[in-house]
Amino acid sequence: MTSFAPSTDELLGRICVVTGSAGGIGREVALILAKAGGRIALIDRDQSGARETSGLIAAHGGHALVVDCDTADPDSVETAHAIVAQQLGEVDILVNNAAIRRPGTLASLSLADWNAVIAVNLTGYFLCSQVFSRGMRERGRGALVHISSVCAEMALPMAGAYSVAKAGVTMLSRQLALEWGPVGIRSNAVHPGMISTPRTDAIYERPGVRDQRSAILPSRRIGTPVDIAQTVLFLASPRSDYINGAELVVDGGMTRNLMSFVPST
Ligand SMILES: NC(=O)c1ccc[n+]([C@@H]2O[C@H](COP(=O)([O-])OP(=O)(O)OC[C@H]3O[C@@H](n4cnc5c(N)ncnc54)[C@H](O)[C@@H]3O)[C@@H](O)[C@H]2O)c1
Repeated sequence: MTSFAPSTDELLGRICVVTGSAGGIGREVALILAKAGGRIALIDRDQSGARETSGLIAAHGGHALVVDCDTADPDSVETAHAIVAQQLGEVDILVNNAAIRRPGTLASLSLADWNAVIAVNLTGYFLCSQVFSRGMRERGRGALVHISSVCAEMALPMAGAYSVAKAGVTMLSRQLALEWGPVGIRSNAVHPGMISTPRTDAIYERPGVRDQRSAILPSRRIGTPVDIAQTVLFLASPRSDYINGAELVVDGGMTRNLMSFVPST
């Protein structure tokens, strides 16, 4: 699963915080930012997974700091920021990625499940943006990249609060662009479609699922964490210097394909 983009130095020495980097998409994002020269803070509740990510970065000659943090807890985020600032320096790039799922129909979803998803998937993105951007606002430069989802635009059946929270993330990103653009901070969102990760692999191992899902995608393949990581690297780097308040949809064309399913005879 893990792989690297061609080596570049475009983030040389930049301090990058990646939340939810103990595995899946966050791990691949951390790896690609490290490969581009960034010094990475791996923020996660899963310390053993984060240490694995750190080991992968070190094996490629990169540098990463593992920080235990619950992104939904304001005190935990403050403590994590203090550790990162002290050990690496003030943050240049934040990738908000940590998220959870509590599936269910809205008719029976518990308030606890609703609140848990909103707390991590939306409030956590706000808290991390506010706290980790302090140095960016002082220095007048920085980049925020928020991992949202195609579910921000399209309701997902049985998603509980997930799609609602993702729609909130996309608007949070726009609002941050509006408020902090004038002080030199860019805020953009990535909307992944169907991405194969260790967490979703069980679905793709069911007979026929990968082929059936691939068939409805114009690109005819399920996405990988590398597809998302490449996009994050672009949005974090000076290559996207004039992109602010935007959403990049990375879904192999899935959300542009409705007309293929309209009967024509
Ligand atoms: N995989 C997909 O198909 C897909 C599609 C669209 C969007 N996304 C989004 O991409 C992001 C990553 O998805 P993934 O599939 O890699 O997920 P994942 O479940 O594999 O990884 C999420 C990580 O976040 C961490 N985390 C969860 N709650 C946390 C908290 N409160 N504090 C700190 N860390 C916490 C977990 O420990 C885990 O390491 C998420 O925002 C997800 O919504 C994924």
